[in-house]
Amino acid sequence: MKLAVVGGGSTYTPELIDGFARLRDTLPISELVLIDPAADRLELVGGLARRIFAKQGHDGKIVTTSDLDAGVADTDAVLLQLRVGGQAARNQDETWPLECGCVGQETTGAGGLAKALRTVPVVLDIAERVRRTSPDAWIIDFTNPVGIVTRALLQAGHKAVGLCNVAIGFQRKFAKLLEVAPSDVHLNHVGLNHLTWETGVRLGGPDGTDLLPKLLAEHGDAIADDLRLPRQVLDRLGVVPSYYLRYFYAHDEVVRELRTKPSRAAEVAAMEKQLLAMYGDPALDSKPELLAKRGGAFYSEAAADLAASLLGGGGSSVQVVNTYNNGTLSFLPDDAVIEVQARVDGGGATPLPVPELDPLYAGLIAHVTAYEDLALEAALRGGRDRVFKALLSHPLIGQYEYAEALADKLIAHNREHLAWA
Ligand code: G6P
Ligand code: MN
Repeated sequence: MKLAVVGGGSTYTPELIDGFARLRDTLPISELVLIDPAADRLELVGGLARRIFAKQGHDGKIVTTSDLDAGVADTDAVLLQLRVGGQAARNQDETWPLECGCVGQETTGAGGLAKALRTVPVVLDIAERVRRTSPDAWIIDFTNPVGIVTRALLQAGHKAVGLCNVAIGFQRKFAKLLEVAPSDVHLNHVGLNHLTWETGVRLGGPDGTDLLPKLLAEHGDAIADDLRLPRQVLDRLGVVPSYYLRYFYAHDEVVRELRTKPSRAAEVAAMEKQLLAMYGDPALDSKPELLAKRGGAFYSEAAADLAASLLGGGGSSVQVVNTYNNGTLSFLPDDAVIEVQARVDGGGATPLPVPELDPLYAGLIAHVTAYEDLALEAALRGGRDRVFKALLSHPLIGQYEYAEALADKLIAHNREHLAWA
């Protein structure tokens, strides 16, 4: 089995390699190609990746290349984990929206729109090139904003599934609190990528007892602290929102906070410098502890599980993924991309049924879906007018004065990445 990772020079890659090494029985990789335009990073990351495989007794070959077409040729799956413009572009996304009193975040609000505009054309070009040489390959997308990027891929007819680590993070956290194995925790996870709620925590499987009320009663403070939301909010809702909901439920508080500290991009850039220095040490042969400080914890497990189910020849499993709605949420169009539990096998992902949703969540999901629709239009077709409309439609923006100012800032800060600007 051959797998290719686009953005293979990412500092996250050792995490992924670690997951692949542990899952080698279900995911028998004979060749793993790490593809990245940054040759120096790629060599450091590739070296460590080979040492991790060797230490864990994995005999798969790890190839590094900057040649995308050669790298994705005759592959079974391609993982996309790229960041157009790197942390420098992310730093912009996290900064200029604050000038208008709006949240500065890489996937939520105006910053998220900027990221979508930079990313969608690049990902679609890569997917086309994959299709030319590997028409049957699965595309697993972790590239943010995952909902919009996955929708772009599916609309263009690609075999794609979108992935995020928020759900697996909750699964691991709840399993620890409940003192059960993670595989025994089945989440009722619903929404759009980075706009989700855990509405049930079932023991053993989709029909198991719901332990969410018990979790909230016994561990509500710890869960609320982690999310940095007041405990009363969780108790009143009776569900656990993802930490991205804080940008909505505590928007103004977050803006005040962000104005007083360095951006997350700056923090991550410093960490990446340290990580790359460590990766260069020939004595290092496992993923360093410092990686756990990145937001993507457990993403390797989720990715390896997903690849194993998509390529595993007959096996199926239930995982949280991003895929077409197809009637799952009755209030959304079929071609909206949602993030829910789905059955995954060689044929792709099929969402499990979701019980009717409270308008409290359905309303916001529908609103952000409409924004994502307009955001994708803007990413595919360009033009200030489309950028303005996407911003105006976003529930965290909404007023024309802000949408006008943010449209100008977005274009000014991203001109080099936007073919039409
Ligand atoms: C979470 C999200 C990812 C995001 C990451 C950022 O894991 O699910 O989509 O990329 O956080 O983490 P970072 O360490 O880069 O801030
Ligand atoms: Mn994510």
